[in-house]
Amino acid sequence: MSSHPLGKTTLRLPLEGFTVKVLSVVGARPQFVKLGPVAQEFAAANQSGGERIEHVIVHTGQHYDPWLSDVFFADLGIPAPDVHLGVGSGSHGVQTGAMLSALDAVLDEHRPDWTLVYGDTNSTLAAALAAVKMHLPIAHLEAGLRSFNRRMPEEHNRVLTDHAADLLLVPTKVAMDHLANEGLADRSVLVGDVMTDVCYLVRDAVADQPVVLPGGVDPDAPYLLATIHRPDNTDTQDRLSAILAALQALPVPVVLLAHPRLVAKADAFGMSLNGGNVHQTRPLAYPQMVRAVQAAAGVITDSGGLQKEAYLLRTPCTTIRPETEWVETLDGGWNILDNELSALANVAVRPAPRGEQPTPYGDGHAAAAVRHTLLTWGR
Ligand code: UD1
Repeated sequence: MSSHPLGKTTLRLPLEGFTVKVLSVVGARPQFVKLGPVAQEFAAANQSGGERIEHVIVHTGQHYDPWLSDVFFADLGIPAPDVHLGVGSGSHGVQTGAMLSALDAVLDEHRPDWTLVYGDTNSTLAAALAAVKMHLPIAHLEAGLRSFNRRMPEEHNRVLTDHAADLLLVPTKVAMDHLANEGLADRSVLVGDVMTDVCYLVRDAVADQPVVLPGGVDPDAPYLLATIHRPDNTDTQDRLSAILAALQALPVPVVLLAHPRLVAKADAFGMSLNGGNVHQTRPLAYPQMVRAVQAAAGVITDSGGLQKEAYLLRTPCTTIRPETEWVETLDGGWNILDNELSALANVAVRPAPRGEQPTPYGDGHAAAAVRHTLLTWGR
């Protein structure tokens, strides 16, 4: 692809025998989940002839624990990264800056037609900044999400990335509206949500498998699945202690899938995550997570992706945040926001809403739309 895509709004048919080079940059757990269906779609479509995508995968190393990284590559059929930057942890500036400086040489070597960035992490922003400075076209997958909460690092990352990008691959109509309000409609394409693709595929693949809960919790009795990792919930002692007390007092076992940030902060504050009805365990691999969410009485979380997975798997969710980017999950009561922890005891275990559930996150074919758009945008 030779022309810069900024400002082009029409889709054209791909050319036979054409190859587009896409360089995906990922680094954190939710990005591996999104990369899974995209990488599989690129590889499968290449087998059937016609236009091709040459796919280069760059792992920044933001997440390095095997349970946050390697298991996702293995379970979701993602090829090993072509490049691993090994950046690791650090303050936002140190972590993002280390990625930024390492990415220059990688982008210079590959000169991709598209630098494809995912979601809202520091890895997303670093790759977008590196590419825009080198005048290389950027596509942002999961563009247009907004919490309107400027305290969240993810909100800075997604707003800045959307405005740096040339092509915005958008999961929902609400996200399309946000982008239009910011003057970005002419580079936005509604492709659906690739997390729906992977969630449905894995749900069907594990439907007959037993639910296995680490920590000795009986999967045949009602249980809750919980994750807490956002800085606003983990990084001050009073807040973390209030959340743990609320979880420990719930009436059924709570399987707490502890993110390294949560473990580190609890250690630093001298707190135990176990106690009352809480059973702390390591994070689950994606297929086990999907199965465990499906069978749970409810989910309690501050994760973005897990709110949506609970919705797709028809499990009630309670979100420990003042707002959500995935506002569609709130319709019909599938998801309830309880940042003050005042409702948790009453709503954590509640029946699933009855009746038809709308499908705001697409039908499970978003990765094909992503591929088509990358092949045809601006040509
Ligand atoms: C990051 C993303 C967040 C995403 C989350 C999913 C940013 C700003 N945040 O948050 O959007 O929802 O990933 O998990 O990019 N750590 C380890 N091992 C690891 C990774 C992290 O021990 O493999 C510890 C380190 O102490 C680190 C802390 O966790 O300082 C936080 O990691 P970091 O990458 O800064 O952000 P997350 O909280 O994981």
